[in-house]
Amino acid sequence: AFTPRVFSGIQPSGGLTLGNYLGAIKRFVDMQGSGIETIYCVVDMHAITVWQDPDALRRQTRELTAGYLAAGLDPTRSILFNQSQVPEHAQLAWIFNCVARLGWMNRMTQFKDKAGKNAEKASLGLYAYPALMAADILVYHATHVPVGEDQKQHVELTRDIAAKFNHDFKTDFFPMTAPVIEGAATRVMSLRDGSKKMSKSDPSDASRINMTDDADAIAKKIRKAKTDPEPLPESVEGLKDRPEARNLVNIYAALSGDTVADVMAQVGGKPFGEFKPLLADLAVEKLAPISSEMARYMRDPAEIDRILKDGAGRARAIASPVVQKTYEIVGM
Ligand code: ADP
Ligand code: NA
Repeated sequence: AFTPRVFSGIQPSGGLTLGNYLGAIKRFVDMQGSGIETIYCVVDMHAITVWQDPDALRRQTRELTAGYLAAGLDPTRSILFNQSQVPEHAQLAWIFNCVARLGWMNRMTQFKDKAGKNAEKASLGLYAYPALMAADILVYHATHVPVGEDQKQHVELTRDIAAKFNHDFKTDFFPMTAPVIEGAATRVMSLRDGSKKMSKSDPSDASRINMTDDADAIAKKIRKAKTDPEPLPESVEGLKDRPEARNLVNIYAALSGDTVADVMAQVGGKPFGEFKPLLADLAVEKLAPISSEMARYMRDPAEIDRILKDGAGRARAIASPVVQKTYEIVGM
């Protein structure tokens, strides 16, 4: 049996969005202090699978760390670090590149989405990304991975890799990791297009709420969010075929901590002209303190770097023996 251990990460490939906050960071904070060891990573090696300007990458790595800290991750209770500072991730990823099958990688929908029509021009790293993610998780023998819905397929691939490694080498060295996809906002959608997820890599800034947006920007984006002309339905069932309405109600529920049913009991039947200002006020109330804390951390980059360095040392103390043992199992 494996000791329960939580691992997750976010790419420093742009500013943090409300989707990252509700689908990931807020839940990372909730899992902290549950008596289980929590390890949270800034995955810069994933970010460079698509072009990143070097100075922007450095800034975004610190900014994401500031976001983690501002949202409530505590470096004395969680391990916080940057992926490239722990070389064991890359070492284990190579082994997993040799375990994963091309057919498995070909089924990954995120690669298809990100590579677009011209997949020949995508980097080899973008294609191999899920094997690196399996290494991120398994180098800590993590048993639980809090993620948004979009990462479910990658966590399943992680299990496939662990199972094939264990089978091929007649061992039970790697655990079968469980994705933890919970809450009202496991898939926050774009404010401009109810069929696309909200993402930091969406070219349209109006499609997302950034963690660093000020109160006016948040209110404006919510006011302009695409919706149908009908008022909110009276009950949860009425949200079924109303993706934009459902998205805004889910965001409200996740921000307030109420269930979707409770939210509908409060706001069901209201026109968007009344509901959107309530949502904007709630979003500002919850996000403004985090964004001002982020700005405060960003004024002391040396402190951020110190926290990341300390975290990398603690992460390596776990990862290094796992890689050594893996090499031994493989015959290296
Ligand atoms: P992005 O898609 O914004 O580039 P990442 O790929 O770095 O973000 O994902 C970081 C975490 O945030 C993952 O757990 C992912 O599932 C979660 N996440 C990203 N976008 C959303 C969203 N729109 N709704 C819910 N969770 C999300
Ligand atoms: Na993602």
